[in-house]
Amino acid sequence: MIGISKITGYFPQRYVKMKDLAVARCEDPQKYLIGLGQEKMAVVGGNEDGVSLGLNAVKRLIKDLDDREKSQIKMVIWATESSTDESKAASLNLIDTLQLPNNGRYFEIKEACYGGTAALTLAFAQVALHPETKIIVVTSDIARYGLKTKGEVTQGAGSIAMMVEDSSNIVLSPFGQSAYYAKNIADFYRPQGQNAAIVQGQLSNQSYLNFFYQVFQDFFKKQDLVPEEIKLINFHLPYTKIGLKGLEKVKDQVSLSTYEEWVKLFNQGKALNAEIGNIYTGSLYLNLISNMLQGNFSSGDLLGMYSYGSGAQGEFYVLKVQQLWKMPEIEDLFINRKAISVEEYENLYRETTSNLNQTFNSEGIRHGDFYLKFIKNGERFYEQA
Ligand code: COA
Repeated sequence: MIGISKITGYFPQRYVKMKDLAVARCEDPQKYLIGLGQEKMAVVGGNEDGVSLGLNAVKRLIKDLDDREKSQIKMVIWATESSTDESKAASLNLIDTLQLPNNGRYFEIKEACYGGTAALTLAFAQVALHPETKIIVVTSDIARYGLKTKGEVTQGAGSIAMMVEDSSNIVLSPFGQSAYYAKNIADFYRPQGQNAAIVQGQLSNQSYLNFFYQVFQDFFKKQDLVPEEIKLINFHLPYTKIGLKGLEKVKDQVSLSTYEEWVKLFNQGKALNAEIGNIYTGSLYLNLISNMLQGNFSSGDLLGMYSYGSGAQGEFYVLKVQQLWKMPEIEDLFINRKAISVEEYENLYRETTSNLNQTFNSEGIRHGDFYLKFIKNGERFYEQA
């Protein structure tokens, strides 16, 4: 069976509490905690970038593979909107750092927060053509809107990595046909040379919700399935309150009991997204992991997946749970976190650099994890702390 055989992730050690950020920004903490539904925000230093986050996620993804299994990895698709290079694909860094095969195809794709879904869909199709191969999909991002901007509260950082293959050990398999919708709009974008996004927040909210309504309806028109057969919906969550608004948007499409069940499960399942913040490409897959850790679904359940990338592309698809899986490494990451003050966060924010030559130390990086050690003539070098 084709599908995802393993999914895991990585999040920085440092975080700032939303209530501290609200106080520093002279906002009512309830706006951040209730109005937007965020508790904490993962924070990176200059010694972390989209590549180092992804290396740490893939390190955890492949930790139990033997040499033969590693040699079956023939493609690594890196989905990101936090690219560190305009030319070279981030996935190539895995070859040296984690000894992945040279005889593979390594590349990077982009469409804002939708890139992970595009990569996953491509991986399913590739494995159907080449059932003997394994494909790694990496989503890795640092959400940056700028200090003291309206978007600041919806920042975060992290990476989710998935193994796609044809195997008897699949945990999630694609089910039915996706529904998608695209439009050329400027709700969010990051011009070359800028290290923070430009966003029209309310336009992006409206577009996210309108696209959801559209693809949700289209999906159920396409196949012999009714919404009531879906256990819960995983959302791309720039902030968790938007998932509730999404459910409200399709309330008239489902029975009241299903709507109420979806809201109940959503409120339980949003926990990790509220703890980490927005991780762009990985956000939808973080919500999936979070629902899994909350025990919100079991084998045989169908899970709705709503992916949205500004610019804009939306997609609704369904995954079938083949079996539950364990993620002790994710739980370890949450035990091993460090709260920092708003002042420390602001200093770390300013450390992110586009310098072509710079050296960093391993401060704030967990033992054994990768960090950006130095940049030389624009080339980035990573080492384990
Ligand atoms: N107590 C409780 N709730 C409060 C509150 C208080 N004291 N003060 C405000 N709120 C609520 C508001 O009513 C609103 O909720 P509602 O939309 O359900 O009515 C919510 O908090 C946010 O307030 P709002 O004034 O809309 O926030 P904002 O203008 O500061 O911006 C974003 C919010 C999300 C638009 C902004 O952070 C942003 O641009 N983020 C980046 C882009 C993004 O995440 N887009 C999402 C789609 S991809």
